[in-house]
Amino acid sequence: MEHIDTLKALGLFDARVPRYTSYPTAAVFSPQTGGAFQKAALEGLDPADPVSVYIHIPFCERLCWFCACHTQGTRTLGPVESYIGTLEAELELLRQTIPGGLRMGRLHWGGGTPTILPPPLIHRLAKAIRAVFPPAEEFEFSVEIDPIMVDRSKIEALATEGLTRASIGIQDFDPEVQQAIGREQPFDVTRTCVDDLRAAGVTSLNTDLVYGLPHQSLARIEDTIDKVLTFAPDRVALFGYAHVPWVSKRQKLIDEAALPDDLARYALATRAAERFVEAGLTAIGIDHFARPEDDLAQALTTGHLRRNFQGYTADTCQTLIGLGASSISRFPDGYVQNAPATAAYIQRINTGAFPGARGYHMTAEDQLRARAIERLMCAFTLDLDDLGSEFGPVAYGLAPSLGTMAARFAPYVTLDGTRLHIAPEGRPLTRIIASVLDQHVPEGVRYSRAS
Ligand SMILES: C[S@@+](CC[C@H](N)C(=O)[O-])C[C@H]1O[C@@H](n2cnc3c(N)ncnc32)[C@H](O)[C@@H]1O
Ligand code: SF4
Repeated sequence: MEHIDTLKALGLFDARVPRYTSYPTAAVFSPQTGGAFQKAALEGLDPADPVSVYIHIPFCERLCWFCACHTQGTRTLGPVESYIGTLEAELELLRQTIPGGLRMGRLHWGGGTPTILPPPLIHRLAKAIRAVFPPAEEFEFSVEIDPIMVDRSKIEALATEGLTRASIGIQDFDPEVQQAIGREQPFDVTRTCVDDLRAAGVTSLNTDLVYGLPHQSLARIEDTIDKVLTFAPDRVALFGYAHVPWVSKRQKLIDEAALPDDLARYALATRAAERFVEAGLTAIGIDHFARPEDDLAQALTTGHLRRNFQGYTADTCQTLIGLGASSISRFPDGYVQNAPATAAYIQRINTGAFPGARGYHMTAEDQLRARAIERLMCAFTLDLDDLGSEFGPVAYGLAPSLGTMAARFAPYVTLDGTRLHIAPEGRPLTRIIASVLDQHVPEGVRYSRAS
């Protein structure tokens, strides 16, 4: 059988499995684990361990049809300014709850479009965060930037606040593809954004691209990659387009007939990955690339690569505190998601309640499986002896699952004693292979495709 036929027979095109940016995934969160769990988890934090902080800005001036992120359109700044006030109130609630002396190792602003904030709101938000979470000695600040929704004054404001990594959305530069996804973004505008970021002293640049978009072809994605490489990005995220119109209603505007078929989509992903590796970037996990000197590539080498809600990270903080509507916090014992709808989130904060609406309290078994899935997603390998040194003899209870993986996904998965390995040709199957370890497959949830 041809390689692609074997991958297909193993579910590459048909399986619908999570992206495993967490385990268990958000689909199994329940209202039983909400504000009370969040409060207790915050109170119990160890001030000696710096935390990561994530701020969600759920506003965009334009609403791209392909986008599955939690955001809403606004033409005026009124709701945005008022939302910053709500974030300040949430920060105050956190200040009253967390132990004194807690420091922030990482700060990430995501969305939506954080760069919808004009400079005064950028400074106001940054100041409010720092007042509650003083930065640790080693501190990184990253922001998701829409090149259309930013200008030099906003970039300078972010740089003044200590921006270390800019993550810019590109997706695809081809005009027909851009039209089909409802997102116009001229190359020149993006180039100016990159030049402004470099001029402001931002040292690390990530670019987001998406394969599997309507009207995308090999020639078009290669042209996009040529253009992206002129920016000399430190990191590239190459996401497979998740077409989930039952979740993200605006995707109904996407012409499904123009989406590449299974084989074309696979060819796009494969060729794009080859191009980045040929350009000297190191492949990271299932969908990222980084310059060898970037700390993501370094983390891969040293075995410290992690996976969180933003994708791959070199972040070593055990706790991630998410603020804002829909954001998810990860505590040592589990996850809590703030009320997803912006109005519901604001209402909770206005009444002085903790904003956590749903979550999951992890068992010891969940912790073990979460680490095992993370290892597979990050390193394509899993050694029960390594898990044993972290979790004790209970880790060897996963041995039958490893046997199942090796049997089901041969020849791509091999088991050598306690060590499972996914061969490079089998890596497009990683999410499907990892799902063998998933004990929480929720009823009635439709995930996006695995490839
Ligand atoms: C939260 S968005 C923020 C981007 C920023 N607002 C912009 O437009 O440049 C982060 C990234 O998620 C990715 N993304 C959004 N919807 C997606 C989808 N349906 N499938 C795959 N990736 C998607 C895009 O690459 C996007 O740049
Ligand atoms: S891609 Fe960015 S600008 Fe477009 S809708 Fe999504 S978050 Fe908003």
